[in-house]
Amino acid sequence: MPSRIAVLASGRGSNMQAIIDHFDNLARERVAKVVLVASNKADSPALIRAATSSIDIAHFNSADDGSELLSLLETFHIDLVVLAGYLKRIPPKVTRAYSGRMLNIHPALLPDFGGEGMYGLRVHEAVIASGARETGVTVHLVSDEYDRGPIVAQWRLAVNASDTPESLAARVLNVEHTVYPRVVEMVAILNQLEATRTD
Ligand code: GRF
Repeated sequence: MPSRIAVLASGRGSNMQAIIDHFDNLARERVAKVVLVASNKADSPALIRAATSSIDIAHFNSADDGSELLSLLETFHIDLVVLAGYLKRIPPKVTRAYSGRMLNIHPALLPDFGGEGMYGLRVHEAVIASGARETGVTVHLVSDEYDRGPIVAQWRLAVNASDTPESLAARVLNVEHTVYPRVVEMVAILNQLEATRTD
């Protein structure tokens, strides 16, 4: 049975869409499928975008200790949680319950250029200001600290002398759309193998 994925997204949802499309294209070969898109922002463009598909959507209160999010994930029997432009810290109650089963993507090479407040164009501005010759994409497991869980995959790309934060953001985002769905798929496979070993 395909693993059940919940995507948490507060922003425009382009990674969410890439992941949905990836598993839809695999059709019967897919090891996982997105069954829920949830956000702490009821007017999140990602939520609005997902509402046009047959995927369930939900809004949750992120101001508590994680109880509301955890109960939502349990109600939908979620196996794997994928953060895609979700800006809030995930409370320990949830990271513990989904240890090894919750992923995030960051538009730079962590551990550099990450942490609280490092999102959107700020990341690419900082990369250019530092004079770094390379940037990239990092997929990591989520811990209760911003951008600090174990790294699962990275993809590097060059920073060109002519790059602006906007041009870099566009190139990095393009790579994210290729890398993230494939890493999510790999982690879903590993989790399924682990589950059959411990059955
Ligand atoms: C991406 O750049 C991702 O790395 C970061 O937030 C952005 C989300 O973009 N965590 P989108 O909402 O998927 O278009």
